[in-house]
Amino acid sequence: MSFLKTEALYKTFKIKKFLIPAVENLNIEINSTDFFALVGESGSGKSTVIRLILRLIKPDRGKIIFKDKNLWEMGKQDLKLFHQSLGVVFQDPYSSLNPRMKIYSLLEEPLKIHKKFSPDEIEERINRILSELGLDKDLLNRYPHQLSGGQRQRVAIARALILEPEILLADEPLSALDISLQASILNQLIQMREKRILGILLITHDLNIVRAVSNRIGVMHLGRLVEEAETKEIFREPMHPYTKILINSIPGFYRRNRNKVPKISTEDRNSWALKGCRFYNRCQYRLDICKKNIPEIKNVNGRKIRCFLY
Ligand SMILES: Nc1ncnc2c1ncn2[C@@H]1O[C@H](COP(=O)(O)OP(=O)(O)OP(=O)(O)O)[C@@H](O)[C@H]1O
Ligand code: SF4
Ligand SMILES: [Mg+2]
Repeated sequence: MSFLKTEALYKTFKIKKFLIPAVENLNIEINSTDFFALVGESGSGKSTVIRLILRLIKPDRGKIIFKDKNLWEMGKQDLKLFHQSLGVVFQDPYSSLNPRMKIYSLLEEPLKIHKKFSPDEIEERINRILSELGLDKDLLNRYPHQLSGGQRQRVAIARALILEPEILLADEPLSALDISLQASILNQLIQMREKRILGILLITHDLNIVRAVSNRIGVMHLGRLVEEAETKEIFREPMHPYTKILINSIPGFYRRNRNKVPKISTEDRNSWALKGCRFYNRCQYRLDICKKNIPEIKNVNGRKIRCFLY
């Protein structure tokens, strides 16, 4: 039984009469042993994948399957189990931490919602997660704004992990922090993974992080997964022309400014409008066939690749 997978998942958005398939025909599978990194430039659809998985938005078509059940056909009990089994952390901890609640209450809340814990167990779980994430007990009496950025993000991670989910979904959780803090938080996560079952789906723009921590990578480009393989394979030999560009531009690969209001650049609009491969305009290997035909995902030596070169 697979833990979490998407089947032919589609989500389109409309930006000023222009329909963009932000996630198109996506098939990925994440298990509780994976450290799966989803990478791709701004606007490639990574956060939309996470929002779909969390049921924050409804897919146009396709399925999200959690432990063999369709997320959109589940009853209350299964949904509760689903929410317990998944933790989530976003880039901005303010979005997940109620500013009017003290840290203790923030950590206690998920445990109370799920009701099965005694006061002693709640205390024990809070103390354990604090020490695993290197947080001092003194912080429990403070409000989020009284914490440093690193402490706040650690609290957000602690809250995401307090119910001991099997998978953590993390959308650029560390990119607002400086490098040394990023490294120490990642090390703590890796240590936690050694002690318990914890799969991670990480979205990040930092390929150095991806290389250091993940075991599998999915590369997205304008809504399509273009390559998926083991991390070491991708770094040894990136196959898709787009992956080659990403890998060759380490560190800090090409990052466009993120717009609060969804907008698309003319360059992207031209690429979205292409009938065939959306990387055509930037691809130095392009063939005639690429312009009008959509490359399908193929399995090549155990890797998934979407490109007419293979
Ligand atoms: N609510 C929305 N309404 C309209 N368009 C949207 C909406 N959310 C996302 N989009 C568009 O869908 C596409 C994918 O967006 P998404 O946020 O998933 O990209 P991303 O890969 O997470 O980018 P970033 O790296 O900047 O976070 C973009 O073109 C974006 O403008
Ligand atoms: S399908 Fe064609 S245009 Fe697209 S990446 Fe491959 S070679 Fe380049
Ligand atoms: Mg995003």
